[in-house]
Amino acid sequence: MDSSGPVGPGCRGGALSARPECSPHPSDSTQLVQECLKQFEVTEAQLRQIQASLLGSMEQALLGQNGPAPAVRMLPAYVGSTPHGTEQGDFVVLELGATGASLRVLWVTLTGTEGSRVEPRSREFVIPPDVMLGPGQQLFDFAARCLAEFLEALPVHSRTLPLGFNFSFPCHQTGLDQSTLISWTKGFKCSDVEGQDVVRLLREALKRQGVTSLSVVAVVNDTVGTMMGCDPGLGPCEVGLVVDTGTNACYMEEARHVAALDEDRGRVCVSVEWGSFGDDRALGLVLTPFDHALDLESLNPGAQRFEKLIGGLYLGELVRLVLAHLAQHGLLFGGCTPPALLSRGTLGLEHVAELQDPSAGTARVLTVLQSLGLSPGASDVGLVQSVCMAVSTRAARLCATALAAVLGRLQHSREQQALQLSVATGGRVLARLPRFRSLLQETVMLLAPECSVTFIPSEDGGGRGVAVVTAVAARLAAHRCLLEETLAPFRLDQEQLVVVQAQMREAMAQGLRGEASSLRMLPTYVRATPDGSERGDFLALDLGGTHFRVLLVRVAAGGVQITSQVYAIPEQVAQGTGRQLFDHIVDCIVDFQQRQGLSGQSLPLGFTFSFPCRQLGLDQGILLTWTKGFNASDCEGQDVVTLLREAIGRRQAVELNVVAIVNDTVGTMMSCGYEDHRCEVGLIVGTGTNACYMEELQNVAGVPGDSGRMCINMEWGAFGDDGRLSVPSTCFDASVDRASINPGKQRFEKLISGMYLGEIVRHILLHLNSLGVLFRGQQTQRLQSRDIFKTKFLSEIESDSLALRQVRAILEDLGLPLTSDDALVVREVCQAVSRRAAQLCGAGVAAVVEKIRENRGLEELAVTVGVDGTLYKLHPHFSSLVADTVRALAPRCAVTFLQSEDGSGKGAALVTAVACRLAQMARV
Ligand code: G6P
Ligand code: BGC
Ligand code: BGC
Repeated sequence: MDSSGPVGPGCRGGALSARPECSPHPSDSTQLVQECLKQFEVTEAQLRQIQASLLGSMEQALLGQNGPAPAVRMLPAYVGSTPHGTEQGDFVVLELGATGASLRVLWVTLTGTEGSRVEPRSREFVIPPDVMLGPGQQLFDFAARCLAEFLEALPVHSRTLPLGFNFSFPCHQTGLDQSTLISWTKGFKCSDVEGQDVVRLLREALKRQGVTSLSVVAVVNDTVGTMMGCDPGLGPCEVGLVVDTGTNACYMEEARHVAALDEDRGRVCVSVEWGSFGDDRALGLVLTPFDHALDLESLNPGAQRFEKLIGGLYLGELVRLVLAHLAQHGLLFGGCTPPALLSRGTLGLEHVAELQDPSAGTARVLTVLQSLGLSPGASDVGLVQSVCMAVSTRAARLCATALAAVLGRLQHSREQQALQLSVATGGRVLARLPRFRSLLQETVMLLAPECSVTFIPSEDGGGRGVAVVTAVAARLAAHRCLLEETLAPFRLDQEQLVVVQAQMREAMAQGLRGEASSLRMLPTYVRATPDGSERGDFLALDLGGTHFRVLLVRVAAGGVQITSQVYAIPEQVAQGTGRQLFDHIVDCIVDFQQRQGLSGQSLPLGFTFSFPCRQLGLDQGILLTWTKGFNASDCEGQDVVTLLREAIGRRQAVELNVVAIVNDTVGTMMSCGYEDHRCEVGLIVGTGTNACYMEELQNVAGVPGDSGRMCINMEWGAFGDDGRLSVPSTCFDASVDRASINPGKQRFEKLISGMYLGEIVRHILLHLNSLGVLFRGQQTQRLQSRDIFKTKFLSEIESDSLALRQVRAILEDLGLPLTSDDALVVREVCQAVSRRAAQLCGAGVAAVVEKIRENRGLEELAVTVGVDGTLYKLHPHFSSLVADTVRALAPRCAVTFLQSEDGSGKGAALVTAVACRLAQMARV
């Protein structure tokens, strides 16, 4: 700003020049001075305009509709709750940026008991100017050395202390300990830091400086520290206001209003970063030429315009510019402009505080001015004080306007007209300029009369608040470790999966040779997949999955038509007597025939019986053992076709021709084989799990013939029942197995299938609850009940399209008292359990397709796997994880997974149709 700038009427742009040698007439000078100071007056109308415009920018930013130069940033601060008061322990806090050219280190002890306080120990270190403007590494090394020096004298012993990093600059936070600097403010301009994660930079510096006794667990903005430092006894502070070298505020916003967050419940702390308000010229109407001059000479011209009207780093400079201007126009200091008056930074906040302090008295003001190399006359004192007052009054009123905008936002966000809340305040401007605080309160009451606001000065500049956030972060970090520890055994790496694949291959070979093996490798007497020439109407039963179905399958030239009816198998029937079970099955068949007008017709029937059966022929299957919650008596060791025929026999006037009994894996393979002739593997991942495939007959001991192929039902659910499965069994798996009706059996199935995954998750959640990681460690009765956590919840909770809020809804319906962090943890547990299941399933499929490839001596094999089962079909990631695992473990097999549309009932009908065709051919 050149000395010929405007001073009187029309100052803004007027070309009046006054030189000491021609000082104006006294009456003119007063008027000229008043006009000059008048520029700092902001009318109520203007304040209300700024209030509205700031509120508008805040709501735009919350919606994520920021323009290129965001007026305000509204940055979520990953602090979801105000302190419980239960936080305790020793914490180290590093404060950088709150108080300009100094950093502060604190040792804060939280007692965890309300009202009892231990005075923090702290030390301030002045930051050399070249460090504030030099390479970032230098700044962080400086900070690390200060920490080391501070800790030297303290009882660290061999502990690792949690450190909270109070970093008072605009940052995009992506976690409690992850924060990327957007841009420097307040006299800092270090290189290679903007766009970087400042926690990483600090950790690296601590390492370089050999400081090993600190672990950085949280980074916090000073406004957040100020808010969190509020004594909970004084009622929750939901706004943090800082006016020190810079200025800013944070407040607790409804999470659902923050577009950047995927959360709709609870509140989250948002750092407004109002310092940049006006960077989009919204402040044009109140900016004076002095403001523009200050901005141009600042380290960040055009940025932080609002801050430059309020922050303590700038108030002194503004006063200096005005004083220099008045002096240059002979209106002050007799027109003298000593170098001190013309050089930047001569006046600081302390000077403004002293100069305008009404109790200071003329003598004190003269002393201060003289100490600055000025030679003031007594008549100058009043004018200097008026200039200080004008500048700081404007600052206080503008700060109040911004705070009123935040209160307006809170009214909107809480849909409340009248608000009662506490605002925690921090910073030397508020502390040192007494008029500032009272003006702030008055103006807030003027602009937000419905809000009754209590201002609570923070006692230690937010150090305690940062320690509280650090305590919360430390707790969350500890929880993270416990969670990692708990889930680590579920994370299987490629090497482990290769071993599982090899172990399955070995068990397959032993089973095929008829040697002892956990894989029974049961011949199914299905020798061929359909060739499309099958024809006729068939009845089919489908027992063993989630639903029991009776189907009418019409196989015609144009394709297959299916009519089916689902029937329930009550638990007391599934676990009653065999007679009851098969009579129930026949009842359903009879009901179905009546509904379909088939009564009295004896259609060929294919029976999908999804349990391990040793087949002696297509229509003979000895049940080896029940699985999946079935346990009807007098069935194991029996031919289930006979049991069915006997039940038919017990029912008058019912005639059924049971032609084939097939396993659901075989039915699925056949059903998909009808669509895709390369389908030679059947896979079920539903209530239970299993697979079958077309094996070379010569490899099947116990079945005559060595040419051609036969479908083998692997019964892989039992894989590992002989203890030869190296996948670590966790205590949760053991709990599920112990509580099952077949403990020690179906080991592989209990790691993979739908009947068990929900229970595994439930046991893990109980464990994490007992560790205090979940549900704040509160005992949750509901979670004690078996099967309350359905496997379908995994599919829902892991769905990408499901926002966290919906995850919460599912869990709240279960009566679980959870926080948003809990919902994230539950989702992670589900992911770990289902991922292990899918990988193990993939390792199994890889073993099977590699067996087929080697059987046929092929370099490459292209094969289709027919799949069915609720878990595989409904889980959002299961199928792709299986496919990824197969690709990794069987790279020479191009495997297509074909989901069966009509279930294995159709497959059973096709097996029956093939049998009838072969029988037909045999008869002619
Ligand atoms: C389909 C098949 C059944 C099979 C079931 C397995 O429904 O038709 O034969 O048993 O899938 O899946 P689930 O999830 O029902 O146990
Ligand atoms: C920074 C804020 C900080 C404020 C008060 C501003 O310059 O951008 O992050 O809260 O100063 O220290
Ligand atoms: C049974 C298999 C069946 C699988 C899928 C297992 O429990 O033993 O026979 O194929 O579940 O339903």
